[in-house]
Amino acid sequence: MKRSILREMILNLVWAMMLSVVKFSGCYVEGLNDTSVSSRPHIVNIASVLTFDSIIGKVAKIALQEAIKDVNSDPTILKGTKLNLTLHDSNFSAFLSMMEAIQVMKTENVALIGPQSSELAHVISHVANELQVPILSFTATDPTLSSLQYPYFVRTTHSDLYQMAAIADIVKYYGWRQVTAIYYDEDHGRNGIVSLGDQLAVRGCKISYKAPIKPLATKTDITSVLVQVALMESRVIVVHTYTNWGIDILDVAKSLGMLENGYVWIATNWLSAFIDISYPLPSKTIDAMQGIITLKSYINDSKRTRKFTSEWRKLTTFGLSTYCLYAYDTVWLLARALDAFFDQGGNISFSKDIKLKDSKGGILNLESLNIFNGGNLLRQDILNVKMKGLTGVIEFTSDKNLIFPAFEVLNVIGTGVRRIVMDFNT
Ligand SMILES: *[C@@H]1O[C@H](CO)[C@@H](O)[C@H](O)[C@H]1NC(C)=O
Ligand SMILES: *[C@@H]1O[C@H](CO)[C@@H](O)[C@H](O)[C@H]1NC(C)=O
Ligand SMILES: *[C@@H]1O[C@H](CO)[C@@H](O)[C@H](O)[C@H]1NC(C)=O
Ligand SMILES: *[C@@H]1O[C@H](CO)[C@@H](O)[C@H](O)[C@H]1NC(C)=O
Ligand SMILES: *[C@@H]1O[C@H](CO)[C@@H](O)[C@H](O)[C@H]1NC(C)=O
Repeated sequence: MKRSILREMILNLVWAMMLSVVKFSGCYVEGLNDTSVSSRPHIVNIASVLTFDSIIGKVAKIALQEAIKDVNSDPTILKGTKLNLTLHDSNFSAFLSMMEAIQVMKTENVALIGPQSSELAHVISHVANELQVPILSFTATDPTLSSLQYPYFVRTTHSDLYQMAAIADIVKYYGWRQVTAIYYDEDHGRNGIVSLGDQLAVRGCKISYKAPIKPLATKTDITSVLVQVALMESRVIVVHTYTNWGIDILDVAKSLGMLENGYVWIATNWLSAFIDISYPLPSKTIDAMQGIITLKSYINDSKRTRKFTSEWRKLTTFGLSTYCLYAYDTVWLLARALDAFFDQGGNISFSKDIKLKDSKGGILNLESLNIFNGGNLLRQDILNVKMKGLTGVIEFTSDKNLIFPAFEVLNVIGTGVRRIVMDFNT
């Protein structure tokens, strides 16, 4: 019997989707006059930390602002309360980003959207635990962020665990058995690759060589890593990193002639994001990428996504990436959760953190950090939301993962990308 890997991945998950459709109840419109409504604030402050300079940061910013606009102009969702989103830039330096994030936490926001990098998500999650401010990230896909250590971290996209499982399926299907893994040696890259190793092991395959690149590497640094990779036996290379950095790796690989025949390159979803956002790609770029396999979050086509796609074209010349759809849905998810929060009598109030009171003075001025009293309630309301967004049905499992993880496998061929249909002989 033959079937496609994509279809199998989807079929495995359709049951979860069906269950959630049954449980989904969309009654959010209530009388504008009940007591819970009258105690609602006019403004709720939320903050977002993004890396403005990055490819994903640029489009995510537009998607977030569009979502805020749409939520604020829909009186049924928050019944008069407006979201006030402030955007903050985090540069690639972990230290500067961390200091910036702590500054943001001082400004009494009820939630933080972002950060973009998994590394910063780890750091901010500790602050979020202390101050009880939920963090919703649609880009921090490091599987270890799901850990019980970070109750206030909510990932509003799928963990890399699932795309690593898909890659392991591809490797097994083609009988490659061994791969070389290239990644930047920071949380996102390293933990994703650990996950890949686990998934390969389950299928009797393995990572035969790990090629970590130091963060902030120059092209010379990358070259010396790739020269080592070229000496290895395995000709199947998996690259897992952020979009901006991944492009640097491909540039170097191209100059070393490693993108040509003899190698199989598999890029995680950073490459499909690059292709989508930069569309249409210059033919020179697409020529260099011929044959590369990449993964992309599978999002079912719907009337809403088509409508959003046409609105998007009016907003920007950047192409639409699945990251934009997840960013947009994240704001709606938060708005739905806040609505439930106010319905339950939740209020926005902050109090001094007694533990920090004695850290008098000090350059960090920690005593000015306040705890969000309603934080735990809002966190639970976020995890309890059931809604239909641009990315499909949004609902969390008991271990805080979004339901319905699905990826499609793409191959760069000719002037575009083609969906791969792989045949299994079962
Ligand atoms: C809200 O309640 C007040 C007093 O109870 C009433 O006069 C008013 O008509 C109500 N407004 C709406 C929109 O129901
Ligand atoms: C929105 O938030 C910013 C930053 O916290 C604040 O300066 C501004 O006053 C807020 N706007 C409103 C309308 O409250
Ligand atoms: C980010 O870097 C730019 C220049 O590279 C600098 O102007 C800016 O202040 C930095 N932002 C933060 C938050 O450090
Ligand atoms: C996508 O949506 C169509 C129409 O609603 C449905 O028939 C199909 O099963 C969906 N596919 C997935 C993978 O959810
Ligand atoms: C606000 O919420 C806190 C709990 O988060 C509660 O203790 C307090 O009584 C509430 N205040 C009002 C005015 O409802």
